[in-house]
Amino acid sequence: MRKKIVAGNWKMNTTLKDGMELAQAVEKLEKEKTSDALVIIAPPYTHLSKVNELIDDVKLSAQNCASEALGAFTGDISPEMLLSTGAEYVIIGHSERRSIYNEDNELLNKKMKLALSTGLKPIFCCGELLEEREAGKLFDVIREQLAVGLKDITIDEMGKVVIAYEPVWAIGTGVVASPDQAQEMHKFIRDLLIDLFSEQVAEDMTILYGGSCKPSNAAELFANPDVDGGLIGGAALKAEDFLAIVNAY
Ligand code: 13P
Repeated sequence: MRKKIVAGNWKMNTTLKDGMELAQAVEKLEKEKTSDALVIIAPPYTHLSKVNELIDDVKLSAQNCASEALGAFTGDISPEMLLSTGAEYVIIGHSERRSIYNEDNELLNKKMKLALSTGLKPIFCCGELLEEREAGKLFDVIREQLAVGLKDITIDEMGKVVIAYEPVWAIGTGVVASPDQAQEMHKFIRDLLIDLFSEQVAEDMTILYGGSCKPSNAAELFANPDVDGGLIGGAALKAEDFLAIVNAY
């Protein structure tokens, strides 16, 4: 059975004090959860080590990492630094990194390999723009993002990877993918993993849906056979909403 995960990506939100309060509230509600999904939170870099002291059952993720291991890269944060804060996961290839910071598939592949070799578990994001979907290119875009982003990763390493499908048109827009649209793409991704890796990698891969996921629509998304949880943005900033999504499983 593959792992079910609900992860909260806080993006560039919360001061350290607010973030610590939110983490404590998530940890408290997690203890009362009614589902068996693993709960992960991804606060900003500045909060990681403090938040790590406040959580136990909830697991810690960073939102990004550098593509180089160390050296003269002012302002950047390496996977090893993240690991030293207690972070276990790292989000790589979020659409905001791709679009705002021009991170391309090759760079993301470099980050993936470095994160894995350091011992972090990457949550690798993919997703198409609205224009790409409307032009019927959605599957080509996802195929390219995965084929290049996951290039030269071993089958063993793939056991540590989580994939998140986040259609860009659904992120922060309030427009959620329909359960059928999510299932169609998740199935496509799982089939692609058979071609790129193996049947076992595909079967075991946790594939999360992200984009305007809320307590009111989570259950119907998670009911799909190939949707193994969610990567939550806005709704992860309120502990009650976030745990309501977890409990939608
Ligand atoms: P929203 O849930 O705010 O749409 O954000 C999704 C997301 O980008 C999670 O990484």
